[in-house]
Amino acid sequence: MKLSKKVESMQFSPIRRFNPFGFKAEADGKKVYHLNIGQPDVETPECFMDAIRAYDKKVIAYAESGGINDLRDAVCDYFKGYNMDFAPEDIMVTTGGSEALNMTFLTILNEGEEVLIPEPFYTNYHTFATAAGGKVVPITTKTEDGYHYADKDQIESCITPKTRAICCLNPGNPTGTVLTLDEMKLICEIAKKHDLWIIADEVYREFVYDGREMASFGMLPEYSDRVIIIDSVSKRYSACGARIGFAICKNKEFNSGMMKIAQGRLCVSTIDQVGAAALFRMPKSYYDEVKAEYCGRRDVVYEELMKIPGVVCQKPGGAFYLTAKLPVDDVEDFLMFLLTEFDDHGETVMFAPAAGFYATPGLGKNEMRIAYVLNQKDMKRGTELIKLGLEAYNKKLGK
Ligand SMILES: Cc1ncc(COP(=O)(O)O)c(C=O)c1O
Repeated sequence: MKLSKKVESMQFSPIRRFNPFGFKAEADGKKVYHLNIGQPDVETPECFMDAIRAYDKKVIAYAESGGINDLRDAVCDYFKGYNMDFAPEDIMVTTGGSEALNMTFLTILNEGEEVLIPEPFYTNYHTFATAAGGKVVPITTKTEDGYHYADKDQIESCITPKTRAICCLNPGNPTGTVLTLDEMKLICEIAKKHDLWIIADEVYREFVYDGREMASFGMLPEYSDRVIIIDSVSKRYSACGARIGFAICKNKEFNSGMMKIAQGRLCVSTIDQVGAAALFRMPKSYYDEVKAEYCGRRDVVYEELMKIPGVVCQKPGGAFYLTAKLPVDDVEDFLMFLLTEFDDHGETVMFAPAAGFYATPGLGKNEMRIAYVLNQKDMKRGTELIKLGLEAYNKKLGK
C-alpha cells in the first residue's frame, strides 16, 4: 500500500529517536539524566485539579469549537495584564500549541508555498508545514552569533514570490534566543513590505532572564492584522499533558478560516479547558517564581558547560533550552556512546542532537540541545556527565 508523498517527506522526532537506547540503558540498571526533552519537573499548580474537581456537570458535553467562554475570557484578562487588548473571538482554543500550528499552516498555505523559519527550529514545524503542502525555507543562524536572525538583508534574501509567512519562535526552541521589541518591529516591517503573515510562537513568553522584560508581537497593534500568536499552557504552567493551546489573531478572515477546521474537529477537551481557565487566573507572582527557578538552572548548566574545553555556547536569554557546539565531529555518535558504552558510578546522560533541528542538510552535526528541566543538582550532575563522557569518548577515539 502506498503512503502520501507528504508523510514520506516528514522525519521522526529527533528528540524521541534515541529514546529506545535511553530506555535500554535504564533497563540495564543505569540512571539516565534526561536533558533531552522539554518536559519540566515543576509541579502543575493545584488550581488546575481543584477546578476540575469542582466541575459539577452530569454530562461531559462537547464544548464550543472555538473554546469555552470562561477560558477565552481568562486568556483575554491575562493579556490585559500586559496591556494587550484581545477579544474572546480573537482566541481560538486548540489541542496544545501543536494543533494551533497545524491549523494555522492549513489556513494560510497553498501547495508549494513557503514559510521562513530561523534554523535551528522546533522540528514539528516541518511536519505541520509539510502536512499543509507547504515548504520550510530556513534562515540559517550560528552558535557564535547566539543564533540571532533579526537581520533585514538576511531575511529579505530568503523571500521569494512563494513566501507566505515568517515564523518567529520567541524565546527560541532549541536556542533560547530572545528577540527585543525593536527586533520584532523590524520583522513586522519586513512582513508588511512583502505582505507576509507573522506566526509568533510565544509558548515560552514568560521565561526571559537577566532583567529582560517579557515582550510579545501582540504589543505591536499596528501590525495586528498579520500577526498570529501561538500560545500554550504546556510550558508556562508545567501542564504539558493538559493539551490546551491557542491561536490568537485579530484578523477576522484568518479566524473565520480557522473556524472551518475547528468545527471539523468539533472541540478541545472540555475538562482540560476548565482547568486551564484557572491557570490563567493565577497572580503574576507565579511567573516570577517559575522564572527564577529556570534562570537558576540555566546558570548552573552554562557554568558547567563553560568548564568543558572546546565547547562553544552563548548564554541563552530565555525559554529552557540551550544549544551548544561540542568538540566532537558527530554528536549522534557521542550520544550513542553515552547510552550504550559509558557510565560514571552507574549514571549517564541524554540530550537531543541538534542536527534534526536544522532544515539544511549537514548543519548542526556537532551541536546538542539541552533542556534544563530538572532541578539544579541534577542539571549540574547531568552536565558533569557530558564532560566525563567527552573525556572517555575521546580516549576511545585515541584523541
Ligand atoms: C516552540 C514550541 N512550540 C510549540 C510547542 C507545542 O507544545 P504543546 O503542543 O504542548 O502546546 C512546543 C513544544 O515543545 C514548542 O517547543
